[in-house]
Order: sequence, then structure tokens, then C-alpha cells
Amino acid sequence: MNNTILITGGAGFIGSHLVRLMVNKYPDTHIVNLDLLTYAGNLANLSDIEDRPNYTFVRGDIVDSDFLDGLFKQYKFDGVIHLAAESHVDRSIEDPIAFIKTNIIGTMNLLLAARNNWSDFSGKRFYHVSTDEVYGTLGETGLFTEETSYDPRSPYSASKASSDHLVRAFYHTYDMPVVISNCSNNYGPYQFPEKLLPLFINNIKNNKALPVYGDGKYTRDWLWVGDHATAIDLIYHKGRLGETYNIGGNNEWKNIDLIQNLCKVMDELLDREPGSSAELITYVKDRAGHDRRYAIDASKLMNELGWEPTVFAEEGLKKTAEWYLANEEWMENVTSGAYKEYYEAMYADR
Ligand code: NAD
Ligand code: TYD
Repeated sequence: MNNTILITGGAGFIGSHLVRLMVNKYPDTHIVNLDLLTYAGNLANLSDIEDRPNYTFVRGDIVDSDFLDGLFKQYKFDGVIHLAAESHVDRSIEDPIAFIKTNIIGTMNLLLAARNNWSDFSGKRFYHVSTDEVYGTLGETGLFTEETSYDPRSPYSASKASSDHLVRAFYHTYDMPVVISNCSNNYGPYQFPEKLLPLFINNIKNNKALPVYGDGKYTRDWLWVGDHATAIDLIYHKGRLGETYNIGGNNEWKNIDLIQNLCKVMDELLDREPGSSAELITYVKDRAGHDRRYAIDASKLMNELGWEPTVFAEEGLKKTAEWYLANEEWMENVTSGAYKEYYEAMYADR
């Protein structure tokens, strides 16, 4: 193998798309996927590549610094792409401490493991994957650029902002070769059904209420998860050290418009009476501190590195709904917890 890259959080939603892309695209690179397999991590997301010679899965916790040190000594990583995180805003409102541990202390531990084990930084790279939520909230107009001031407003975004600052501090203080990206809301296959789209698709299928927070006029800029993975690959290989790149789909939707469109798509796919899914829409109490609008200016990434999103609007929504309907077993497993048994069966004796 030419080199070895550590991807953290590779059994999660975005991580599994990135691991698959890199294992397939770089057969001479050893991809080590480190994941704790929390409720959000699922090895079934990667069952098609688990036997590849250039792929290794390791179960472990980035909060455990001794474990990380041993892992760096064992594999002598050339680079790190760090995605492991607690990622859901609503959970961060209920249990912020878990977010401080994984997102802040876990990131610090990874930075220290890299710094302590990389005798010199030549040819090395530490890539931190982050969110646009660090920038806070926008009004009706304007876009987040790489120069927008940080103004995180949920425990999730505050923990990600903190980790971004730590990564930048290692660049300035120790000359560690880092790069950061901040991306908008992702959607597509393998997303845990606590997030808006898979939750609503599953609820529509099961004729359950669709809980729209507040007035439903909150806006998100939706990016197809495969387009995020190609952006990460590009930035990891070609991004300038010390730089930040915003990633976004130029695909803004008010929640209620997105949901109405999803309802139409689901009526068609499930062969239901037009309008029947929309009857499930139920306005519920708003999320505390709910950010009104996120929207990304991705022109730096597009102009400097030539990246472009490929999947937009209704097409992406339809592809997403089709995937979850075609993968009923996946949905049943993650909602029943049966995928944890899959892990025990696959890895108990390894
Ligand atoms: P996810 O919740 O689906 O996956 C997170 C993964 O991290 C899971 O596999 C989980 O098992 C693992 N993990 C959690 N704690 C761990 C720990 N202590 N040690 C090792 N592994 C641990 O998240 P996602 O949506 O795939 O997001 C991945 C990254 O991208 C996160 O850093 C997130 O902040 C960022 N991001 C997500 C979005 C989005 O829309 N989902 C947008 C922008 C940025
Ligand atoms: P979410 O998928 O949780 O992503 P994020 O909070 O990181 O943007 O939510 C997307 C939007 O959908 C957000 O404005 C909150 C809203 N939402 C609902 O209205 N109802 C729900 O049940 C969920 C999970 C989210």
C-alpha cells in the first residue's frame, strides 16, 4: 500500500459514503475506519466493501487518548480525515455533555495523537470535517462565506465551533498541516432516521404524523451526500493547508416547501391518493434556539478546486425517498437496534 489514511466516524451517514468512495477510488491506499458504533454508526452501511484488501474497520472511542496513541503507532497514518462526532442538534439540547466529550475532547485527542506520533509533518494532513452551523443564523438574504464570524447557537454547533478553533490553533501553534471544511445539511442514503428527511419518509410510509417544528419556515441548503464525499476527497488531496472551504448545494428550501414536495413524491411512489401524505403534517412546538436560515457560498471551493454539486432539488428528493423505500430492511434494523447484533455476529471473534 502507498499510504494509510485514518477516517474517523466512517460507519456514520457521511463517513460511510466517504469510506466507500476512497476504498474504491484508491486501491493502493489503506483506509482505516475508526468508529465507536454509537447509535448512529452502522456497519451494514459498508457491507459491500468490508472484505476489500485496502480496508480495515477498528471499533474504538476517540475520547480514549491511550487507545488513539496505540492506533497511530500500529498503523503509522499518513493522514487523518475526521468525521466522528455527535451530530444531532435535538440530542445536543437534551444531553450537551456527550457533545463536549466526543466533539471537543475527542478532536483534541486526535490532534494530540497526530502531533505526538508524526515525527515531522512532511506529506501529512489532518482534515477536520465541520458544519455551516458554526456560523449561526442568517436573515432572509445573504450567504455564509469562509470569512463569516462564528456565532454558534446550539450545544452541537458550539461544540463543532470549538473543535474547528482547536484544529486552527494546531496549525498556527505547531505548524500542523490542517484543512477544514464547513458543509450545509446533507441528505441521501444511510442517514439515521432522527434527521428530517429519513424520519419523515419513514413516518409517511407508516402513516404517522410529520412533526414540523414552529412555523415550518426555517431554511436549509440541502447537499446530496455523495457530493459532500467528492468535495472531501478533493479538499483532502488538493486543498491548501491552513485553509477553510465552505461546501453547499446552492439548493435552499424552506422546511415546509421541502416537506410538501416530499409528500408529493411519496404519494406517487406509494401509489396513494394525491394529498394524502400532506394530511400527516402536524405543526409542533419549536426547537429551542432554532436557527432560522443556513445558506452557503461555495465559490471558493468551486473556483479553486473545480468542485461542483451534481444532484439538485426534486431529483435528489426523489432519489432519497426511493432509496429508503427500497431499503426497508435497513430502516427496520436501525429503528429496532438489530444492526448492533450484526456487529456482534461479525466482529465478536475478530
Ligand atoms: P453521524 O451521526 O451519522 O455519524 C457519526 C459517526 O461517528 C457514527 O458512525 C458514530 O458511531 C461515530 N462516533 C460518534 N462518537 C464517536 C466516538 N467517540 N469515537 C468514535 N466514533 C464515534 O454523523 P454524520 O451526519 O455522518 O456527520 C459526520 C460529520 O460531518 C460530523 O462531524 C458532522 O458534524 C459533520 N457534518 C454533518 C452534516 C450533516 O448534514 N449530517 C453537515 C455538515 C457537517
Ligand atoms: P435536522 O435534520 O435535524 O438538521 P439541522 O438541525 O442540523 O439543520 O433538521 C432540519 C430542519 O428540519 C431544521 O430546521 C429542523 C427541522 N425539523 C423539523 O421541523 N421536524 C423534525 O422532526 C426534525 C428532526 C427537524
